[in-house]
Amino acid sequence: ADWECEVLLLTDSTNEQLKGDGFRHKKLLVAEYQSAGRGRRGRQWVSPLASNLYWSVGWQTQMPVQQLGGLSLIVGLAIIKALNKLGIKGVQLKWPNDIRYQGRKLGGILIELSGDMAGALQVVIGVGLNMQMGASLAQSIEQEWMNLHELAPEVSRQQVLAEMIIELNLALETFEQKGFESFLADWKAVDECFGQKVSILQQNQELKGIGAGVDATGALLLQTGKGIVPIYAGEVSLRFR
Ligand code: BTN
Repeated sequence: ADWECEVLLLTDSTNEQLKGDGFRHKKLLVAEYQSAGRGRRGRQWVSPLASNLYWSVGWQTQMPVQQLGGLSLIVGLAIIKALNKLGIKGVQLKWPNDIRYQGRKLGGILIELSGDMAGALQVVIGVGLNMQMGASLAQSIEQEWMNLHELAPEVSRQQVLAEMIIELNLALETFEQKGFESFLADWKAVDECFGQKVSILQQNQELKGIGAGVDATGALLLQTGKGIVPIYAGEVSLRFR
């Protein structure tokens, strides 16, 4: 299907910019710099000039909003496939949206709804991937992080971006046709939380348990003292204990 592409030198946030754009079907927006890049739960996304990848895809879909729970997971899976194709192995996903390597964050995914147009949902899928960020910015980042360059110094930003969009395009088509269920096996192979002691913070309440995979909607399954509880992404945060 048709894609539209736009590359900007600078913007506030590629997600924000696309939310105000009446995109049709699928549109890729890439920026070299973001003055107000954002992460999940109101956090800032450090976005220095020409060091990393910052992009968003505007996606118009007929899928009902209740079925979009697995979207950030399939976006993560598409990114892992792209990295695998470039020879980068061992990258994992921390539910629901972190791209990590040996416990350090390589990138993240931020999905936002920007409304609907003629009965179709306008979804914005934002991805930030650390490529070659200078160490001077390290202090302003709260989590353990790393650059993709450490794993694959010879792989360019352009290659990574191109492969990610190819894989995302395929993943979105499968997701629309078959839902999240058809990605369950792929998720199992890269699920960093599986069998790990984790704690979930939801509206200031802490829930402790052991990661037990995800269900057919993409909800995290947590093995707790009271049995298996599904956790929906929304505004939760997950920590390893
Ligand atoms: C997270 O891990 O908290 C999600 C980070 C998402 C960052 C990307 S960079 C491109 C797009 N534009 C934004 O403002 N945020 C996303």
